Amino acid sequence: MPDTDISTLEAVALEATRSAAVAGYAWVGRNDQDAADGAATSAMRAALADAPGRGTVVIGEGEKDNAPMLFNGEVVGNGNGPDFDIAVDPLEGTSFCAWDLPGSLATIAFAQAGTMWSPEPGFYMDKIVVPPGAKGAVDLDDPPEQTLANVARALGKEVRDLRVVIMDKPRHKDLISRVLQAGASVQTPAGGDVGGSLAVLLPTHDIDLLLGIGGTPEGVMTAAAVRALGGGMVGRLAPQRDEEADAIRAAGMSLDRVYDCEELVAGEAFFVASGVNGGPLLGRPRIGGGTTVVESLLVSKGQIRHITHTTFG
Ligand code: FBP
Repeated sequence: MPDTDISTLEAVALEATRSAAVAGYAWVGRNDQDAADGAATSAMRAALADAPGRGTVVIGEGEKDNAPMLFNGEVVGNGNGPDFDIAVDPLEGTSFCAWDLPGSLATIAFAQAGTMWSPEPGFYMDKIVVPPGAKGAVDLDDPPEQTLANVARALGKEVRDLRVVIMDKPRHKDLISRVLQAGASVQTPAGGDVGGSLAVLLPTHDIDLLLGIGGTPEGVMTAAAVRALGGGMVGRLAPQRDEEADAIRAAGMSLDRVYDCEELVAGEAFFVASGVNGGPLLGRPRIGGGTTVVESLLVSKGQIRHITHTTFG
């Protein structure tokens, strides 16, 4: 895509996540995940309607939880401009928003048309995300102890100096104890592996890698950010229920295939997030006195921009 198209689409993406963040913020701490998700999704859909060009939602979010979503295959934009692919999660960390626990984000990734991987009926994937210095050093078939040793070597550290983010899920009990046993330290948020992956990529944070199973939309959006910054990522479908595994096989997809970042997002891509209720990456919107202030991160082509946007009136 030409640079002019990319900067126009970056502006659209920023407006889309800002709109979703403000809409989601109205539902922070109200114990209503569906209302929060629905509000963020509607706001994002409205913001994308005027995007110059024709965007295809390759992967939306919400299907696994029957939550409101921009659905897979939905077409957005006004048709006057480039074709592009998008992956969205208008409210990543829905329960964080509902309970006002730090970390919910409005998120979106754009990529060149036809270059985003679709997990089809796969809702979950196993992931490893590492910073650029450890790209190429990880393999999903390695035991976690080997992964830690390889990442430590690539980053010029000792395993005991590594900080690993792993979501605190029952399925990760053994993984967390093996990582601790190997000598690394772990950060175990209740959810939010997009935020965890961004913490790996941002030099302002002290996380060295992300391990574990999370959502596929989150995986594809993460891959867009990883690709833009030259980091490393590998992923493999990891169904959590028999019906999910059956549906993946019925779609003719392999449960063994490992995808690297460049297969998850094969073309030029960028990623945007806006803060919904505050957290380690981005503050919450501040609304009042006739102004709305929203914090966002734009990860594109070898750079990370932290943008504070104020709207008057
Ligand atoms: P939501 O956007 O659905 O709230 O996702 C939050 C999240 O924690 C993701 O970051 C993660 O990839 C996924 O859920 C894990 O799913 P589950 O909570 O079902 O294990």
